[in-house]
Amino acid sequence: MFRWPDEGLARVPFRVYNDPQIAEAEQKLLFQGETWNLVCLDLEVAEPGQYRTNWIGETPVIVVRDPVADRIRVFVNRCVHRGSMLCLERHGKAENFTCMYHNWVYSLDGKLQSIAFKRGVRGQGGMPADFDITKHGLRELRVDTIRNLVFATFSDQLPPVAEWFGPRMVWSLERFFHKPIRLIGGYTQVLPNNWKLYAENVRDSYHASLLHTFFATFGLNRLSMDGAVEVNEAGGSHLSWSKMATDDAEGTDYASGGLRSMRDLAIEDRRLLKTWPEFPDGITHMIQTLFPNVFLQQIQNTLAVRLLVPRGLDRCDLQWWVFAYEDDTPEQLRMRLMQSNLVGPAGLVSLEDGFIGNAVQRTTRGDQGHGAIVEMGGHGVGTERQSRVSEAAVRGFWQQWRGLMGL
Ligand code: FES
Ligand SMILES: [Fe+2]
Repeated sequence: MFRWPDEGLARVPFRVYNDPQIAEAEQKLLFQGETWNLVCLDLEVAEPGQYRTNWIGETPVIVVRDPVADRIRVFVNRCVHRGSMLCLERHGKAENFTCMYHNWVYSLDGKLQSIAFKRGVRGQGGMPADFDITKHGLRELRVDTIRNLVFATFSDQLPPVAEWFGPRMVWSLERFFHKPIRLIGGYTQVLPNNWKLYAENVRDSYHASLLHTFFATFGLNRLSMDGAVEVNEAGGSHLSWSKMATDDAEGTDYASGGLRSMRDLAIEDRRLLKTWPEFPDGITHMIQTLFPNVFLQQIQNTLAVRLLVPRGLDRCDLQWWVFAYEDDTPEQLRMRLMQSNLVGPAGLVSLEDGFIGNAVQRTTRGDQGHGAIVEMGGHGVGTERQSRVSEAAVRGFWQQWRGLMGL
């Protein structure tokens, strides 16, 4: 396809955000290849017959709780007859799936149950007698769950989810989902950029307090706090965390006042900054990525899962599940909702990430021979705890991506 620059992970060629051949190969080698893909939260398919539709890359899928086997199944959301999308709703409850085009019916275990006018009309037309409906069910994917997250894969060989992501990633998921959760909202944010620009952005702990002036100005997340970046063995998944109470900006670029975040910004409604200790470990800011396109967030008391769905070369949809704990008090719930508005696309954080992806996308299309410099914190990835003044997790993403893409 093309040759990666000799500098290795410290350079990212702009071509990867713009080349249709690469995007096509990603569907096959990444999303339909050796990866576990988040499809929904288990609460969305808790009851028999309950389903949720979603996307693995650009492949539509149905996630459903099979009432007979009482387990979650995932199918490609495509009728075997002539390829119509089978289920159009985002979620619901079904006894079977019936294709709107010619009324072929599937049971919830994916088997083709009936064909309209199979024997024709008055002995004429219809399917040939040797057409065997038992040989034509929906394409089924492997499923695995960890805590509240439901994953599916096209691969037969991939190890279970927990093993694939590794122990440190599992530790963090157990922390996020340490007690029963409830969903308190959700939305889809349309991002005007290639999906990988956002995949990089979330792994980029360097930008957080620079682009997001809100974090630094109000002391929510600064590089001068105790914190770390931890990248998993494969490279593509990571944790970035910090502890607000440990901030010491003295002697740093924050204190010298040269940063945009430290000048002339103020907030009228201080309630946005009110928070309570969520976890006994003192971590107030935790961002986790799961390769390739899943993100978990604890920003103060806002908790969310995000899934990024590519939509062609220069667009992607970011789905958000905002959650709380079942035993929250009404006051805690109210505070979570208010802070979520601050972090989400209508607030002061995700809005900026949506904008910045496009700011890169626009400059790279016409000049794909160049590339980005990714050298903060060195040239490698490293799996040990490291400084957040680093792009190690971005390099880690490219390490795993390149391995799967053979580039
Ligand atoms: S495409 Fe589904 S029944 Fe024909
Ligand atoms: Fe950001």
